[in-house]
Amino acid sequence: MKVLILPDEGAAILRAADIVARTVAAQPKAVLGLATGGTMLPLYEELARRHREEGLSFAGVTSFNLDEYIGLAPDHPCSYHHYMEKAFFSHVDIDRARAHLPKGDAPDPQAASEAYEALIADAGGIDLQLLGIGQNGHIGFNEPTASLGSRTRIKTLTQSTRRANQRYFASFEDTPQYAITTGVATILESRKCLLIATGAAKARAVRQMVEGPVSAVCPASALQLHARATVVLDEEAAAELTLRDYYETVHPRGQDSVFD
Ligand code: F6R
Repeated sequence: MKVLILPDEGAAILRAADIVARTVAAQPKAVLGLATGGTMLPLYEELARRHREEGLSFAGVTSFNLDEYIGLAPDHPCSYHHYMEKAFFSHVDIDRARAHLPKGDAPDPQAASEAYEALIADAGGIDLQLLGIGQNGHIGFNEPTASLGSRTRIKTLTQSTRRANQRYFASFEDTPQYAITTGVATILESRKCLLIATGAAKARAVRQMVEGPVSAVCPASALQLHARATVVLDEEAAAELTLRDYYETVHPRGQDSVFD
């Protein structure tokens, strides 16, 4: 795992944006795996700025979001369809016909999950998968004890995740209990993974992901099995890492190593 520690959130986001921009510039038809959540908002803002001011184009890109709440229609203001439209798609030149999210309002969510997994395979798999991490170590909505061999399917959200996401809904009761999420194995099949974590609330999960045992109790720890996983952190999210000196020796101030 490549661990890049940046001085603050702003620097971490710029570093992550560089990695996404480099991928899209080198591979204009890249297949991107996208994530939602608070961590990603400044990243999408920066990518939109680069599109506007520097000509970074997403016109050839295909995208697959990690997850969507079950029961929310795409136009629901709290759906991830709506989040993506507002935060990213409406600001760049991506072709909506190739910007995919799981269908949370499908009459048969299990069939919709299987169709989504097949669609990713038909697109040739994901070149770069963006990821955030939950305070409980989830990636996508693969909650603790999710199978590390899992594929796109329905997951029941933990109380902790629902509490963390309650801020977007009227109340805890209104916060959905179920989601469609790509699986841990789906994520691990991506050719590259880029996980971003910022803020002190993520420090414990980050330590378990990077230095803990590979365990379904912390689904993000499965990234230890991925040969090309990069983790971009700010100082606060990196605060509990015990081998921090080493990461900073290899990647001073989060920059590439001499051999990258
Ligand atoms: C969202 C997703 C989740 C979030 C995670 C962190 O598509 O897949 O795993 O990345 O819950 O969310 P924030 O960034 O809001 O802390």
